Amino acid sequence: KMEEEHMPRRELESIHGIPLYWCFVEKWGQVEAFQARPDDLLISTYPKSGTTWISEIVDMIYNDGDVEKCKRDAIFNRVPFMEMSTPNFINGTEQLDKMPSPRLVKTHVPVQLLPISFWEKDCKMIYVARNAKDVAVSYYYFYQMAKLHPDPGPWNEFLEKFMAGNVAYGSWYDHVKGWWEKAKDYRILFLYYEDMKEDPKREVQKVIQFLGKELKEEVVNKILHHTSFQEMKKNPSVNYETMPSWALDHSISPFMRKGISGDWKNHFTVAQNERFNRHYEEQMKGLALRFRMEI
Ligand code: A3P
Repeated sequence: KMEEEHMPRRELESIHGIPLYWCFVEKWGQVEAFQARPDDLLISTYPKSGTTWISEIVDMIYNDGDVEKCKRDAIFNRVPFMEMSTPNFINGTEQLDKMPSPRLVKTHVPVQLLPISFWEKDCKMIYVARNAKDVAVSYYYFYQMAKLHPDPGPWNEFLEKFMAGNVAYGSWYDHVKGWWEKAKDYRILFLYYEDMKEDPKREVQKVIQFLGKELKEEVVNKILHHTSFQEMKKNPSVNYETMPSWALDHSISPFMRKGISGDWKNHFTVAQNERFNRHYEEQMKGLALRFRMEI
């Protein structure tokens, strides 16, 4: 199925002012025309915020904690990535069009780029937000291992680009603010990565309730065990190791990298942290939206 042996890195293009991969932009018409179904569940995140983690949790809930069923296919086939499109490889909208209901749909788009039918059909959505500093660090490693990205350059330069929103999917600040606002008017469960780390049981219970399911305690415990970082890291159906290495090179940095909160402290210098905090305050001032930078 994989015709390309390598993918040369290319600069980001832009769609409605949001920086994005050239091959997604090329097929954007399909994304805009995408037809959501009322029983779709949308999983939305800014990249590197715990998308894969929440996706596996939700698929486990949908399958009543049946581990074998959740190993039926790779996560990118069980929860297709809607706007994903690479020549001769994966096309998310086409994958989803063929998929029986109820579908799980992954996206990273900011609210203004979500296909309108998701709002019209009033689909349930789960948004996972992660603190900006850990996202920046995780994104820096992901830029290096995922060849769809331009070269991130040295950390200091990448951090500047991240703050300016000059990275794939644009500004983290605008993304979280946009989804936070929408959560006031739509059926959106807004979760934090840090809360999931702190008390995964509490957060998984919230998801179960949001989905209108009831699961026995032992099933919940099974879900928690199966979706722990240690288990997911060694599970080929979620760790992305089945992706061809021309697309993702785990020898540069594994997709399941650290899975902790506060790793930014190992990367930010004191000066970078002060500069980041000043910029952060400006971007986030006056908002009820609060992040914990460590737990
Ligand atoms: P790190 O790079 O900080 O380790 P996404 O799935 O949105 O691309 O997010 C990837 C990040 O989530 C990575 O962060 C990855 O390690 C982390 N992650 C994946 N599964 C996890 C889990 N079960 N528990 C905690 N973190 C997880």
